[in-house]
Amino acid sequence: MGGIRGECGGNLACATCHVLPDPAWIARLGPPSAPEDDLLDFLDDERRPESRLSCQITASEALDGLILTVPAP
Ligand code: FES
Repeated sequence: MGGIRGECGGNLACATCHVLPDPAWIARLGPPSAPEDDLLDFLDDERRPESRLSCQITASEALDGLILTVPAP
């Protein structure tokens, strides 16, 4: 099954919320925190330069229209 599982509920313990932001949005998102960056290294699927954990992205008006792709399983 595809989609965002988010098994740890946003506690930076699972990386099942991996997403790929559209390149046009990367600057507005800013870089991942050090703990997020460390967990991204343990992804089951392949990490890409734009990889982020969606549970660590704080929704705001500034991100209205954000385009995220869920990696293929
Ligand atoms: S939901 Fe587990 S790291 Fe994001």
